[in-house]
Amino acid sequence: MAQAAQVTGRQQREREYYDVYGPERALRDTISLEPVDSLDRRPWNPDWRIVDLVKDRYTPGARLLDFGCGWGNNAVVFAKLGYTVDGFDISPRNIEATLGRAANYGVADRLNAQVAPAEALPYADQTFDVVVGVDILHHVDIPKAIAEVRRVLRVGGTAIFREPLQQPVFDLARNSAFGRWAVPIKASFERHCTADERKLCAGDLNTLRRAFPSLQVESFRILSRLDVILPGHTARLEKLDRALTVIPGYRWWRGTGILVMTRAA
Ligand SMILES: C[S@@+](CC[C@H](N)C(=O)[O-])C[C@H]1O[C@@H](n2cnc3c(N)ncnc32)[C@H](O)[C@@H]1O
Repeated sequence: MAQAAQVTGRQQREREYYDVYGPERALRDTISLEPVDSLDRRPWNPDWRIVDLVKDRYTPGARLLDFGCGWGNNAVVFAKLGYTVDGFDISPRNIEATLGRAANYGVADRLNAQVAPAEALPYADQTFDVVVGVDILHHVDIPKAIAEVRRVLRVGGTAIFREPLQQPVFDLARNSAFGRWAVPIKASFERHCTADERKLCAGDLNTLRRAFPSLQVESFRILSRLDVILPGHTARLEKLDRALTVIPGYRWWRGTGILVMTRAA
């Protein structure tokens, strides 16, 4: 088990941001239980796809770690599906929110959560059958966090993350002097953006691949980026993306990836 480490400057900044942001979202958001209540599959949508990837591999009762559980949205969904869920987060107020929601949604008996940093987890080696993380790796020290994912995952277990990925053309424009002038890049509650978060780049994917040579990336948010100017058409655009990913090179334009990694040994 990793030693409890002192909180770093980056972890402290994330904690301060999410201690305010998370509880506010927990009050505002109703957790969608559609993936629990319906037999539908929606492989074109990354939120549904993550649930299907877990359901296809693991039966209820399996031990699942929600890696950076935030205010509990995904932890509650997986507990509702019957998994035995642990969650952790750097923000104590997020953990309070997660535990409160576990009680409100009737899953307190199979959802535990605690404050911990992704880079030094308080779990024994090979504790979990499956690790799931949504929008988290791009907030943490990736080499340390992925070593922890591998350590707490059982041999043969799978880690599944959904993360924003850098797209060379769009992000070059976004990070140019003009892009930064037009839409300043700084921590903001309105835009839900912390000071240190960074989309995953090719180097980060290589870091993940070194820990998990089996890494596979499913690509999302290509044409469906256009839903900002075509509201109401998200599902149609997502289906088109899913169909068009058979075209060589199409995936290169992705803005979101689902990363699937299995621990071989
Ligand atoms: C974008 S939120 C995602 C939360 C949740 N996975 C979800 O999908 O709602 C990022 C989360 O990462 C947590 N976080 C940031 N840095 C962390 C770290 N080093 N260790 C653990 N959690 C961290 C934040 O507190 C926040 O809850």
